[in-house]
Amino acid sequence: MPRAQAERAVPQKTPRGTHSGSSDPLAPRTRSAVAYAPGVTDAPNAAQAEYWNAARHWVEDIAGHDDMLEPLGRPAIDALSLEPGQRILDIGCGTGATTRAIASAVAPGEVVGVDVSGLMLGVARERGGAEFIEADAQTYAFDPASFDGAFSRFGVMFFSDPVAAFANVRRALRPGGRLAFVCWQSTSSNEWWSVPAAAIARWVDASAPDEGPGPFALADADRVRGILTDAGFHDVSVRDERRPVLLGGHGDIETAMGYLAASRFGKQIREEASDPRAAFAAAREALAPYVTPDGVSMTAAVWLVTARA
Ligand SMILES: C[S@@+](CC[C@H](N)C(=O)[O-])C[C@H]1O[C@@H](n2cnc3c(N)ncnc32)[C@H](O)[C@@H]1O
Repeated sequence: MPRAQAERAVPQKTPRGTHSGSSDPLAPRTRSAVAYAPGVTDAPNAAQAEYWNAARHWVEDIAGHDDMLEPLGRPAIDALSLEPGQRILDIGCGTGATTRAIASAVAPGEVVGVDVSGLMLGVARERGGAEFIEADAQTYAFDPASFDGAFSRFGVMFFSDPVAAFANVRRALRPGGRLAFVCWQSTSSNEWWSVPAAAIARWVDASAPDEGPGPFALADADRVRGILTDAGFHDVSVRDERRPVLLGGHGDIETAMGYLAASRFGKQIREEASDPRAAFAAAREALAPYVTPDGVSMTAAVWLVTARA
């Protein structure tokens, strides 16, 4: 697997909340011109690499995603009990917000972010503060026992072989090193998903499979325990964490609708719904009761998972 690829073109950033420069949820989204990493094209997670290299909404609304996800990732950072001088791996680091937060906690230590998306890493490298490797965390040959801890905020649900992937991460940790990550619980426990999904169900099937690579692949706590144990981890803990999340971050219903339109939901509506305008209107109506002065606030349920190598 190659080390970090040459810098890729950093995508154009659009102002906060505008999503591809258009507030019209029906406007077609530009597709990424960035090809996926040469080193992962024939790898087990090539389809995910392709998806994440085209996930432009993540780089077009960096502030919105970070704002929305920060409160959910913080407990996993805290669970690492970071100390200056440590070396930490951020798995599926995306545009690098958590990588930077961890880097400042372990300075003068070191953080390495690994991700299959050159698109996301283009932003992460521009933001700086850490080393970034464009590679598949499932197969990349990390130096054995070279990290004190491994972390992820929603970057570990996309492996074709989760046991192999977590075993690879464990080998990268020193014996006794900590693993801490957050992943989504079931769709039904997550209002931010279930409410819009139910609203648009008349037009598209937005249900997500609970297994297989995808955002809800680790929704079953027993399965998570089994995967980590099979991967050789000890002291596995899976803790229920629920808190409100602002859809698309601080803002208003337009912010939330912009997030939705740019997300998997929006793509599905534009591509599959017989009446996309009606589907978006139904989603907006469903979000209205959740509007607060801070934004559209809905329950998020995650597993805070910790273990030792
Ligand atoms: C939901 S995003 C989360 C990004 C980031 N951790 C955050 O919270 O902002 C999932 C990330 O995992 C990355 N990813 C998916 N499969 C991966 C793999 N096999 N190895 C490394 N990264 C992967 C994606 O490219 C994407 O950046």
